[in-house]
Amino acid sequence: MKVDVILGLQWGDEGKGKIVDVLAKGYPVIARFQGGPNAGHSLQFEDKKFVLHSIPSGIFRKNTQNIIGNGVVLDPVIFMEECNKLLEMGVPVKERLLISKKAHLILPTHRIIDAASEASKGASKIGSTLKGIGPTYMDKTGRNGVRVGDILSPNFTERFYALKNKHISFLKQFDYPCDIDENESQWLESIDFLKQFTLIDGEYAINHMLDENKRVLAEGAQGSMLDVDFGSYPFVTSSTTTCAGACTGLGISPSSIGTVSGIFKAYCTRVGSGPFPTELNDETGENLRKLGFEFGATTGRPRRTGWLDLVALKYAVMINGVNQLIMMKADVMDTLDIIKIAVSYKIDGKKTDQVPYDTFAEIEPIYKEFKGWKRDLTKITKEDDLPYEFMTYVRFIEKETGIPINIISLGPDREQTIIR
Ligand code: GDP
Ligand code: IMO
Ligand code: MG
Repeated sequence: MKVDVILGLQWGDEGKGKIVDVLAKGYPVIARFQGGPNAGHSLQFEDKKFVLHSIPSGIFRKNTQNIIGNGVVLDPVIFMEECNKLLEMGVPVKERLLISKKAHLILPTHRIIDAASEASKGASKIGSTLKGIGPTYMDKTGRNGVRVGDILSPNFTERFYALKNKHISFLKQFDYPCDIDENESQWLESIDFLKQFTLIDGEYAINHMLDENKRVLAEGAQGSMLDVDFGSYPFVTSSTTTCAGACTGLGISPSSIGTVSGIFKAYCTRVGSGPFPTELNDETGENLRKLGFEFGATTGRPRRTGWLDLVALKYAVMINGVNQLIMMKADVMDTLDIIKIAVSYKIDGKKTDQVPYDTFAEIEPIYKEFKGWKRDLTKITKEDDLPYEFMTYVRFIEKETGIPINIISLGPDREQTIIR
């Protein structure tokens, strides 16, 4: 068996949580491979809403084993809060979740470093979620990190304080007012909570599952345009959000990758700083934000909104080897007379179809206009009932990317999904 991958093709918040929850029915194993509690994955079913940050979106499905892979960074406090909410809802989270020992732990001081680093950048800040993601991955690649498996070691407390002391020295450069011991007791308490979970050698576990012919679905976090290598650096997150991240973040070989499903919104959003060529700073943008309820699932920040950007979408399709597309939230554009798609860019007076290396390049998008469908799509359940103008929009994207849009989501609920 292979590992199918679902990942965001834009700047995150494409609707990965909803789709993984929908598809989880057909997979005995769902695994997160990168990111951490910077993610906010929303699910909605039976009039209930839930936002997951660290736990894979298969957790609500009976008979599904969820895995937090080695590529994830885990904040045990946020994890404990998330688990407690699930337990209150009657979800047997301990039975349904396995955690890789090689996942790295986010310490309270990682969060302080994140905040101090952002504050020092002033207007050029990244717009981080302030969850300590960047500093934790820095310690991982810098070979200083503390891993989930370490909590079982008799000298775990020493390792924790050794890293904390490094952070105290590091923080001296910032002159950032903070309480260095803040949340420490709660953090240590949450480590005890974490000990109740099954900690695994994730790479062995997943490869054994594949040998046993179990289908695995890998759930991406963030989006390709936030990838540390291929996103709009430095306005990116600190992990590999692209398909290659599923290999390094789970311990599977490239030849174990099956279908790569790329999720995109029928328009675009971005939260945090950085380039956004098709951004709409007008009434249409405001309407997309209101109707799409575009506010961060993790931070509550208003998301920036704009038209669909085909240059960026094709780039993401290319670097991920996407072989099926999933389009989300077109229903948000139900009332628009005219809908635009950026088909190329103009930079320094020259037309280009490539995402430029220069993150600060002045980009003027070149748009193609589409007639709005002006119909409520949210109650449509069959492809044949979709309006002609909407299908024109869908077919244009399919033709341009060369990839079929096999799933169309027309509302936040599980049921509002058309599988073609
Ligand atoms: P994720 O991070 O990729 O899982 O996405 P988020 O959960 O952060 O953001 C997606 C938002 O859109 C959530 O509020 C979802 O409930 C909502 N949503 C998902 N799919 C649809 C859709 O097709 N239509 C509408 N209107 N909302 C959707
Ligand atoms: P999901 O999984 C949208 C953005 C932040 C910021 C940048 C770096 O819900 O799609 P970080 O905290 O990672 O150092 O922030 O990345 N960002 C996201 N934007 N959705 C996310 O996750 C994001 N995770 C991080 O806003 O611009
Ligand atoms: Mg999100």
